[in-house]
Amino acid sequence: MEEPVLVHPPSEKLRTQMAMAAGNTPVLLKEVSIYQEKRFLTGIGEFDRAVGGGLVPSSVTLIGGDPGIGKSTIVLQVACALARAGLKVLYVSGEESVKQTKIRADRLGQLMNENLFIVNDIDVQSIIGHIHELSPAVVIIDSIQVVFLAEITAAPGSVSQVRESAAVFTQLAKQKGIVLFMIGHVTKEGAIAGPRVLEHMVDTVLYFEGERYSSYRVLRTNKNRFGSTNEIGVFEMAANGLQEVSNPSQIFLSERAPNTCGSAVVPILEGTRPLLVEIQGLVARSAFGMVRQKAQGFDQNRLALLAAVLEKRLGLNLVDKDIFLNVVGGVKIMDPAADLGVALSIASALLDKPIPANTVILGEVGLSAEVRSVAQPLIRINEAEKLGFGRCLLPSNNLKNKMEKPKHIQLIAVATVKEAWDKL
Ligand code: TYD
Ligand code: MG
Repeated sequence: MEEPVLVHPPSEKLRTQMAMAAGNTPVLLKEVSIYQEKRFLTGIGEFDRAVGGGLVPSSVTLIGGDPGIGKSTIVLQVACALARAGLKVLYVSGEESVKQTKIRADRLGQLMNENLFIVNDIDVQSIIGHIHELSPAVVIIDSIQVVFLAEITAAPGSVSQVRESAAVFTQLAKQKGIVLFMIGHVTKEGAIAGPRVLEHMVDTVLYFEGERYSSYRVLRTNKNRFGSTNEIGVFEMAANGLQEVSNPSQIFLSERAPNTCGSAVVPILEGTRPLLVEIQGLVARSAFGMVRQKAQGFDQNRLALLAAVLEKRLGLNLVDKDIFLNVVGGVKIMDPAADLGVALSIASALLDKPIPANTVILGEVGLSAEVRSVAQPLIRINEAEKLGFGRCLLPSNNLKNKMEKPKHIQLIAVATVKEAWDKL
């Protein structure tokens, strides 16, 4: 549903590129000096990690997320931290009044100082005026969906307004070397433009995720021109703002009841970070001859495939059974290294035999029930060791490759799902 716009030449992407390239002449690639870009650290470790080790000048970061998830809270904490570090920060709050933001800052217990400016404005031209006047090093637009350019007839929040306003701010950030943050709400209705329409024109895209009724929040990097993607930062929403969770594995495992049938612990990798999560499987006789397979936090198709492998290759009787799988703590697993853990969790639930509580399980499962090697086994094993696990089931191919052996954790190599089950 795009509203009619008067004129559109050239596109916002092209203009951003033109602005970046303005005044450049061709140089020999081999003569380009590569120096380490200076990065600004916020001191909020989980945030610095998510943006790839600090903020780069002239970089544009989009922070997306559901309404109420904590986007304004995190940017305000970042703003205060950067201001304390001596950078001049302009926080443009279009959604809340200046007083509301002050109340929030007081709640966060952040000390105000001479560097943090705030303005309640939604007119792009007038915001640009503030930027020229103040010359801040950091600008935050909260949110991009409420600001508008007067020369575009469409309403604020429409695709054309969001795109054009973002393009104008991006250009300015590139010209003036400003660290720019734009906040965007993820909307389910297509009528209002969500952060997706901006992803191509910014340098970094962060999504703030979490279950509404859980206090944990994950800041996930979807795109990063200055660092690796799939990095995550983990926070807990407390009464005084977002607190860093520097050891998420411990929290995800904290409520685990030992020796429960169907419970398995897998060390997955999120970007460069190992994370231990608990998988819970439940198998029940299905009523009415309609078999159900449901997964929370794990790919449904992958679950069906693993169930078929267990049925066919291990002779487990799952035909008339409902299978439910849950990943604890609202974590979403993409890592194939969790396959074996999922398979064994289902087997454990079906056969009513618990998986020993001191064991973690690692391995991708193929269609003939073979256990395939996983990427970066050592960081995962070290994380398990750090949290006091004593045994790790892992693909035999991972052990064949010369690997430094950890001291306090016993490594058990397995080649098939059957062998893994037997060795448990
Ligand atoms: P907010 O940052 O306003 O969300 P967004 O900008 O993504 O819409 O945060 C909203 C929720 O966070 C709100 O329901 C209250 C809660 N909250 C806390 O629990 N503790 C706090 O210290 C703050 C500031 C907010
Ligand atoms: Mg907000």
